[in-house]
Amino acid sequence: MRKPFIAANWKMNHTLESSCQFLQELPKQLGKIPSTNIDIAICVPYIYIIPITQKLVSVNQENGYNVKIGAQNMHWEAKGAFTGEVSGPMLSDIACTYIILGHSERRTLFGETDEKVSKKAKAAFASGLMPIICVGETLAQRDSNETMGVIQSQLLGSLASLTPAQVEVSTIAYEPVWAIGTGRAATPAMAQEVHKMIREYIAKHYGESISQNIRIQYGGSVTPENALDLMAQPDIDGALIGGASLKADSLSKIIQATLAKKNLL
Ligand code: 13P
Repeated sequence: MRKPFIAANWKMNHTLESSCQFLQELPKQLGKIPSTNIDIAICVPYIYIIPITQKLVSVNQENGYNVKIGAQNMHWEAKGAFTGEVSGPMLSDIACTYIILGHSERRTLFGETDEKVSKKAKAAFASGLMPIICVGETLAQRDSNETMGVIQSQLLGSLASLTPAQVEVSTIAYEPVWAIGTGRAATPAMAQEVHKMIREYIAKHYGESISQNIRIQYGGSVTPENALDLMAQPDIDGALIGGASLKADSLSKIIQATLAKKNLL
């Protein structure tokens, strides 16, 4: 049984003050949950990792949570002359646990290629960070029936540097580009079809057991309303959430929906 994994991707949002308000609000909205049944991460802008980690210590302790912190990008080199970049060792140094890699916004706006994602994934493991590797097709690719081919090629390139044991503990986030920030989520059936294909791809390349253990999140306009049906799908193991993760109440509802649909409450 795969443990569900809900990750918030705050992207370039929130201030220090509103982040702290979010953390104050979280226990009020989330209440008591069986924390060991689900993994939860909040992936925040770099500069907020330290203050939010400090605040999370008491939020976790007081409420029996185990919410972890993630970053949204990193460089593949450990150090050097790379102005403006942040490395894996720096992130693990400040107790960061997860790292989002190859998000479509990084792929389209910042020239991230599968090859770079693969180098970053290897570097993430070398620093003890757990990667969330994003894949997804554009609307034009979906309309021309290229979805499966595009995703298989992203998986081939992005996972190239990892050992099978590393693939097994990585998370894949299926985020159709046309569903991100548009309010137009994939239907549960559409998402399930791609998630199943991703699992079959992993089974073919890394074996059945690894394919049964790897977690595959769905991302793209996830809301408390559509989370119930999405999380009812057998190959959807959680979500990577943008807009709806910025407020403690909507993130909490998605976490609760996931626990309910996976019969883990
Ligand atoms: P939205 O939930 O805002 O569509 O964003 C999804 C996403 O890109 C998460 O990484």
